[in-house]
Amino acid sequence: MNALIIYYSLSGNTAQAAKYVAKGMESENAVVTTMNVNKAQIEDLNNKDIVVFGTPNHAGSPAMLLRKFLNSLSDTALAGKKVSTFATFLFWKGDVLTTIEEIAQDKGATNIVPGYARRTSFLLNLWSVITGTTEDEEAWIAFGKQIATS
Ligand SMILES: Cc1cc2nc3c(=O)[nH]c(=O)nc-3n(C[C@H](O)[C@H](O)[C@H](O)COP(=O)(O)O)c2cc1C
Repeated sequence: MNALIIYYSLSGNTAQAAKYVAKGMESENAVVTTMNVNKAQIEDLNNKDIVVFGTPNHAGSPAMLLRKFLNSLSDTALAGKKVSTFATFLFWKGDVLTTIEEIAQDKGATNIVPGYARRTSFLLNLWSVITGTTEDEEAWIAFGKQIATS
């Protein structure tokens, strides 16, 4: 199973989530490439069985650069691939997941694993470091496993 995670991240939360999701998928034997959307090319989707899009909630929507990348794909770019999505947010998850899922369908995706959104913030991250809790990491890893196995 070859998987590609394409994410946008301004302040690092979604990049960190992407690493954990990759860890979960790898634990189910997927070979995962994790890539900032800044560097992603359409050709990076070649030979990938699974494509996962990660983004922060920006005013209820996926980050503009990720949307741009998705919109630049051909109508069949995601055909035959398993597709999923995840989002980080501060207060509410907005319509981020459904927006990405709808675009993915327009780009040929028929096998979509329902996405996952999680509240993430600098303070929450700091709190988990102080208290030594791994709840966030575990939640993202579980989601990665779910993508790989469903
Ligand atoms: C321009 C902008 C708009 C945002 N809009 C929302 C929002 O509408 N709702 C929300 O809960 N968080 C919002 N946030 C917070 C981010 O979604 C949240 O901090 C996210 O985890 C940041 O991810 P990143 O560190 O990967 O950039 C916004 C952040 C930015 C920079």
